[in-house]
Amino acid sequence: MSDRILGIETSCDETAAAVVVRAREVRSSVVASQIDLHARYGGVVPEIASRAHVEVLTPVIAQALVESGFADDEIDAVAATSGPGLVGSLLVGVSAAKALALVWDVPFVAVNHLEGHLYAAFLEEPDLDLPLVVLLVSGGHTMLVHMEDHGRYRLLGSTIDDAAGEAFDKVARYLGLGYPGGPLIDKLAKDGDPQAIAFPRGMIDRDDEHRHDFSFSGLKTAVVNHVRRHPDVTTADVAASFQEAVVDVLVTKARRAAQEVGAKGLCLGGGVAANSALRDRFVEACAEDGIRAFVPSRAMCTDNAAMIAAAGWWRLQSDGPSPLDTGATPNLRLPLAG
Ligand code: KG4
Ligand code: ZN
Repeated sequence: MSDRILGIETSCDETAAAVVVRAREVRSSVVASQIDLHARYGGVVPEIASRAHVEVLTPVIAQALVESGFADDEIDAVAATSGPGLVGSLLVGVSAAKALALVWDVPFVAVNHLEGHLYAAFLEEPDLDLPLVVLLVSGGHTMLVHMEDHGRYRLLGSTIDDAAGEAFDKVARYLGLGYPGGPLIDKLAKDGDPQAIAFPRGMIDRDDEHRHDFSFSGLKTAVVNHVRRHPDVTTADVAASFQEAVVDVLVTKARRAAQEVGAKGLCLGGGVAANSALRDRFVEACAEDGIRAFVPSRAMCTDNAAMIAAAGWWRLQSDGPSPLDTGATPNLRLPLAG
């Protein structure tokens, strides 16, 4: 049995390694963030990201192994994110994983980063029942996924322009808050009035085939226009009202999707799922609708390798090992059913 999985995640600006047993028991999870390296540029610089992954990945893997309490020869398989993400960054993790798999003579398994986010909740809620609807909100993606079974997904809707995290980052940059914007807006919004400015809720009233889709670029423009017209507005009120508009759309659409497919549970995933207002409103909405809410801890929402090891374990069960000529696929999509 390939139960003890070493997971490796290098798709963007986090270098992470973790050891997880049977997609349930997290023995170690090490995350080295590159935020300080990119902050002064206001966003992730791909060339800097891949170089930093090369520098720290070996010690990060070593730390994950030591903290797991397992010796090298007790690891049963190595999983790494093969996409979506930055090609140079992905290649660092995929190459390291394949090399270790070869040396240790264990299977290598390529993991879809989005599938990793879908599995984050399972690490903390082993009794999670399928089918579920998952609201996956990250820096690059915003999607509502009907998880019918393990590895069997239906995409209900996704963003037609910016991802929710991208909107947080762009608005924060415009407001001069820094990078990454999500946590900074989250913090500042606590001092502002979420009802101060009535920002638009993109696509919230759609009842056609786009009813589960999202749009955030109009909101971003509305923030810019509002600040230009009202130079005296407080940044805290703008942050709180912007966040309120995003959370309102996300929660409204997620609960509608859950009702439509008759899901018994609604789950959050992805970096934006670390947002305090979203977490609170999500749990309240599920309680009102009588469905179970699954909200992973903040550390499991943002990029980490434990979720990659967990998704890797499930992929090994269903598809077996990946070939050793597997490369990086920057625009890899979530594998969809039928
Ligand atoms: O999933 P993730 O760590 O990386 C990607 O796969 O994209 O998500 C990163 C995104 C960034 O846009 C970041 O600003 C956002 O998640 N984020 C947040 C919060 N923490 C991270 N957005 C809102 N509130 C937060 N507390
Ligand atoms: Zn992510």
